[in-house]
Amino acid sequence: MRIGVLTAGGDAPGLNAAIRGLGNGALSDGHEFIGIANGWAGLATEYAGRPLSKLDLNYIVGNGGTILGTARHNLDNPPGGRERMLEVIDEHLDAVVAIGGDGTQRISNWLSQHGAPIVGVPKTLDNDLAGTDYCIGFDTAVSIVTESIDRLITTAASHHRVMVVETMGRATGWVAAMGGLAGGADLILIPEFPITMDDVIEHVTRRRASGYGFSIVVVAEGINLETLGGVEVGVSTEGIGGVRLATRGVGNFVANRIDEHGGFEVRTTVLGHLQRGGTPTAYDRIWATRVGAAAYEAVRDGNFGTIPVVRCNEVVSAPLSDVAVGQRPVPRDLYELCTAFF
Ligand code: F6P
Repeated sequence: MRIGVLTAGGDAPGLNAAIRGLGNGALSDGHEFIGIANGWAGLATEYAGRPLSKLDLNYIVGNGGTILGTARHNLDNPPGGRERMLEVIDEHLDAVVAIGGDGTQRISNWLSQHGAPIVGVPKTLDNDLAGTDYCIGFDTAVSIVTESIDRLITTAASHHRVMVVETMGRATGWVAAMGGLAGGADLILIPEFPITMDDVIEHVTRRRASGYGFSIVVVAEGINLETLGGVEVGVSTEGIGGVRLATRGVGNFVANRIDEHGGFEVRTTVLGHLQRGGTPTAYDRIWATRVGAAAYEAVRDGNFGTIPVVRCNEVVSAPLSDVAVGQRPVPRDLYELCTAFF
């Protein structure tokens, strides 16, 4: 079989471990393993597949990024990108494994519904893919947020400041909530549970009055600005034809409002792409390898239209349609635990 693999959307630490897990199974069983460059663009514009060997997979388990390259490619502008992919897959490949988040898996699902032999792999540091407890890259992002807060706390405490930390995460608050919990933030703002600017001011004021010399306020990039008294602008999470979430500057917005209130020294740190770069954690490497290997087994067994997901610490197979249904929000009880530490 000619088994193609691509990574689409934003990169995430652990992608190479997944490619290695998948490729090792495919090559060990004597199949051709084809790396497709730059996500869907490598199928929709010009076919960009090249054979990979076990040597190509050597020592990549700990490397960040993706050896294949990735892209945010708009398949519908100009129209016809999806149909073109069906033709290219038919001509060049017997199976495709698409490693990506919800945007990618919605396209995988479309291709599957139109007859393409496709298997997904769940990836996004946002961890918001429906139907899986884990997405490649999330653990590394949370670890970076945690370490950043550890570092910010010492300078915040020394200067008696309010430190606002802006994280990635798109429309959900997983990275902010889990990073904030692990780092010991005293306030975490996420899209799922909006609070007002009055609540924020009340919090930092009460904390100071209680004798705490500083505050760490974590803000997820996707929070709603209108709830905080700001003006919302057109938002596109994919960066195609709209505004990227990071450009809304929600961290600075919150910091400026606290500053305008008076009585606090405030600083902002936008963690940005530091959350996506560099080496994956051991946890990401292990689970990425496991879902990559499971994707190969799905291809081998002809289980197309599926995606290996993590549920209750096990890798199980789910229909692609299960994950192509919108985002998985942070549940209320977990958020309440995150905000229980004043
Ligand atoms: O989906 C992953 C993610 O890192 C989001 O958290 C973030 O909003 C977006 O991608 C940033 O995308 P780009 O790298 O295209 O700016």
